[in-house]
Amino acid sequence: MRRGAVVRIALVGVAVGVVTSLFAVFIPWLPTSASEEMDGIAFTFWFATVICIGIFALVMAVILYSVVAFRVRPDDDTDGPPIHGHTGLEIVWTVIPAVLVTAISVVSAIVLAKNDDAGPNPLKVAVSAQQFAWSFKYPGADGPLSGKLVLPIHQSTVLSLTAADVIHSFWVPEFGQKQDAVPGITTRLVITPKRLGTFPVICTELCGLGHSTMRSEAIVLSRADYDKWLADQRSGAATQGSGGAGVFAAQGCGSCHALAAAGSTGQVGPSLDTLDAAAKKAGKPLEAYVRESIVQPDAYLAPGYQGGVMPKNYADLPQDQLDQLVRYLASGGKGSE
Ligand code: CUA
Repeated sequence: MRRGAVVRIALVGVAVGVVTSLFAVFIPWLPTSASEEMDGIAFTFWFATVICIGIFALVMAVILYSVVAFRVRPDDDTDGPPIHGHTGLEIVWTVIPAVLVTAISVVSAIVLAKNDDAGPNPLKVAVSAQQFAWSFKYPGADGPLSGKLVLPIHQSTVLSLTAADVIHSFWVPEFGQKQDAVPGITTRLVITPKRLGTFPVICTELCGLGHSTMRSEAIVLSRADYDKWLADQRSGAATQGSGGAGVFAAQGCGSCHALAAAGSTGQVGPSLDTLDAAAKKAGKPLEAYVRESIVQPDAYLAPGYQGGVMPKNYADLPQDQLDQLVRYLASGGKGSE
């Protein structure tokens, strides 16, 4: 009789475990890993999940068996037998969870320490977040400023994150980690890409009206392609990169504004392809209108747009860059100078 009960509980437990495992394995809950750090996180995730499935199956088996076997019979109004605990059982159900939770915390601590270790010679990229764009500054005086995060594969990389205005959060799902970018402090994130490709950079902290558009790309290249990109950026910094188009790209203007010449389609702010008409409507000369809209965005608002959305910090742009940007936009993005 008792042995029959144990066998039935075990069978129910196996059935529950198999069904739950199928859900865990066959639904792609996590994106395919593109970094060594994500591999460690995925290992921790599966380590905890396997333990959870085992405990869940055991608990469900006992509950399901008990509900069926010990359900009250019709017209049975008697009390159940008096029970006063079971010391052995209580020790078992305290010790086993304690051991399992300790094991999960040890595995997590090891993975955290490993994921935080950038090794002796990491690539260092300074990440700056602002409403509503990302910018990535590469090391060295001539290190390029890019609107996209370009990384060489298998290179341990340290991101130093900060923000110009409000709290943002850096996330590349395939890299498996998030890190806040906070005004006034520098946070840190280590990434070691292990798969070539282009992955989305997403802001995951509600940071204002354009939060959902605050996206960029992380591009993982081979070492040779990365070196070539870096060299192109460095030589370009002296020519086209310093022109209005370069300022437009580096400042992330395109994440909020559409400009055909730059290939941007942002919808948060007014289109920059119709600045002529907008300046006429505002009754101002074109270049003066463009300059004012950049340094004092709330001085005049294009019809249909709210104030307080465009960041004020473009007033701090170096004068030459501001001049280039104004000329670039006033010319409809045609002349970069
Ligand atoms: Cu930046 Cu949301």
